Amino acid sequence: MELIRVLIVDDNDDTRRNICQMLSFDEQIVVVGEANDGVEAVQKAQDLQPNVVLMDINLPGLDGFSATEKITTDVPGTAVVVTSAQGEKEYLRKAMMVGARDFLVKPLRKEDLINTIKNVFKIENKRTGQNDIKKMPRKSEVITVFGTKGGVGKTTIAVNLAVYLAKCKQKVVLLDFDLQFGDISIFLNLYPRRTISELTQEGDAWDMELLESYLLPHISGVKALPAPSRPEYAELVMSGHIEEIINLLKDHYDYIVIDTSPFFNDTNLTALDLSTQILLVLAMDLATIKNVKLSLELLESLQHLNKTKLILNRASDDMGITIADAEETLNFLVAGHIPSEGKIVVPALNEGIPFVLSHPTAKVSKAIQEVGNLVLKDNGYQEDLRIKQNKNFFTRLFNRGD
Ligand SMILES: Nc1ncnc2c1ncn2[C@@H]1O[C@H](COP(=O)(O)OP(=O)(O)OP(=O)(O)O)[C@@H](O)[C@H]1O
Ligand SMILES: [Mg+2]
Repeated sequence: MELIRVLIVDDNDDTRRNICQMLSFDEQIVVVGEANDGVEAVQKAQDLQPNVVLMDINLPGLDGFSATEKITTDVPGTAVVVTSAQGEKEYLRKAMMVGARDFLVKPLRKEDLINTIKNVFKIENKRTGQNDIKKMPRKSEVITVFGTKGGVGKTTIAVNLAVYLAKCKQKVVLLDFDLQFGDISIFLNLYPRRTISELTQEGDAWDMELLESYLLPHISGVKALPAPSRPEYAELVMSGHIEEIINLLKDHYDYIVIDTSPFFNDTNLTALDLSTQILLVLAMDLATIKNVKLSLELLESLQHLNKTKLILNRASDDMGITIADAEETLNFLVAGHIPSEGKIVVPALNEGIPFVLSHPTAKVSKAIQEVGNLVLKDNGYQEDLRIKQNKNFFTRLFNRGD
């Protein structure tokens, strides 16, 4: 039985004690902390990562609505249940707008309280599909940058993301699984003597020492495994090799960033299977939108949709198709936007210096940093965005006529 970890927020000592007592009757629920004001609530939610927060509204300092909003945006995987002596519709609406999952009117009854917590926990688990994984000390994040259209910017994003993560003091390895025409070495100005195709010829007894000897260090701190030097060597690399490489690296690196070729082939499918996050790259032309739609359908059938973030590359205002139109067509929300900035991106590629290093304050670098922050926090998923979108909808609705 999986325990449900609860944080109780109320400025009244007796109420907190009462709630604790009621919850002690259920063996699945465990109270991991208490807070008596909004600021403490946010801090404890971040530190303790509870499954459910019971949140009173009238709190000194930061009120319960503001604390709920902060927790629902900053602590993914934690659901908030608002508790209040006021049961008016206006309170209920406000609670929904800030992202609360349920609302209980005081005085609280034991059965209601326990059932609500269990229900919210069940829904939250289904929603993220990842709570189990999140609670385990995850050794490594595997991030695959994917897209079934050539030239959409997969390598540009993978390389600059890896370098940004390394700048954030993470231990990062970048794998070039675009096995025929991989160009990570060019992006990083590296000159590989040996590549993944030679690695596959090393027999069965691979160990970390051997694999590490194939990784090329970049000045940013990123280590890179280059793609084969010739397209015909790509066929030496089997999905079993991909699996072994990822599994070996998982114990030694914080982030494994993978660049891919634009196909659903065996090796890419293996990388997607083993990924904890997938960045699917979108561009605003009809051909790419059609490809992304088909890719999303396939990712859904492979049950990979809940780890997919859609990243729009070369976003600009004059593309003839609006982002909202694309999102509606795809039935999927865009998590990150990277602007088109040829004057920075193309010379960076030609010089072999990632632009997040050479131009850290450029718009395109800032955008990669934002995507990197989504990756670091493991948020920016369709469901997170949908809540945000609903919130915006409510905000617009209630602010009409202001
Ligand atoms: N945001 C951007 N602004 C301007 N140019 C860009 C941007 N993103 C990518 N490019 C340019 O587009 C070209 C293709 O980018 P990239 O090689 O990253 O795509 P890819 O998806 O990896 O392509 P392939 O499928 O061939 O591997 C490169 O010349 C790159 O400099
Ligand atoms: Mg590429």
